[in-house]
Amino acid sequence: MNIILLGPPGAGKGTQAKRLEEMHGIVQLATGDMLRAAVAAGTAVGKKAKPIMDAGKLVPDDILIAMIAERIDQADCARGFILDGFPRTVPQAEALDAMLRERRLKLDHVIEMQVDEAALLERVTGRFTCSTCGASYHEIFNRPRAEGICDVCGGTSFTRRADDTAETIKARLAAYRAQTAPILPYYRSKGVLDTIDGMAPIEAVTQAIDAILRQP
Ligand code: AP5
Repeated sequence: MNIILLGPPGAGKGTQAKRLEEMHGIVQLATGDMLRAAVAAGTAVGKKAKPIMDAGKLVPDDILIAMIAERIDQADCARGFILDGFPRTVPQAEALDAMLRERRLKLDHVIEMQVDEAALLERVTGRFTCSTCGASYHEIFNRPRAEGICDVCGGTSFTRRADDTAETIKARLAAYRAQTAPILPYYRSKGVLDTIDGMAPIEAVTQAIDAILRQP
């Protein structure tokens, strides 16, 4: 099963993709995580992407398209994948279609997660991540069970993303409205788009997505 989670920054794409990975045995392909790994490794792509990401803008399409084309050919994608953060522009959506066609793969579901802008700001500015395993938490909505200890790996060190500031989130939301929202009609016209209420609690959102994935 191959699916896309679509939604603005902070909509909960990463949170839900991790849960779906476990529930359905399909792999999360998060382009933001891939780019942050390239930045941390100091690769040519990372050096080009860093200032763009810090400004809350979108990294050029050719970089992202090549990154995803290479990734979906890896063995762990054979059972299916959850695209989290890709596609983000109409050219990326068209390139994904071509990639899937070439590989005789099908796109099963595109799920749009709708969340109010005020809630997005609160979610993004309250987010923190385990430095060891990358598990994501929130100061109010999703705290570790034991204070200061990661539920997943027991790590005790946490980090915040450089682009999770109130100022950068405005640029990220503007990029979403101008460049990513136009792909919604593209998928609606193909009959694969479902929209869910991303304002619901995390578990309720998982159940709403799961109900869509279980549709014949
Ligand atoms: P990326 O890393 O993809 O960031 P994003 O799309 O801005 O999304 P986020 O990761 O911020 O949010 P999310 O929806 O995953 O929410 P989360 O689950 O963490 O991209 C970063 C940058 O990389 C881009 O700005 C761009 O520069 C570049 N880039 C990446 N892909 C690109 C592409 N294809 N093309 C061009 N450039 C690209 O949740 C947020 C918080 O809310 C968490 O703390 C969570 O615990 C909490 N939360 C989640 N769900 C709920 C809920 N239901 N109720 C309450 N709290 C919740």
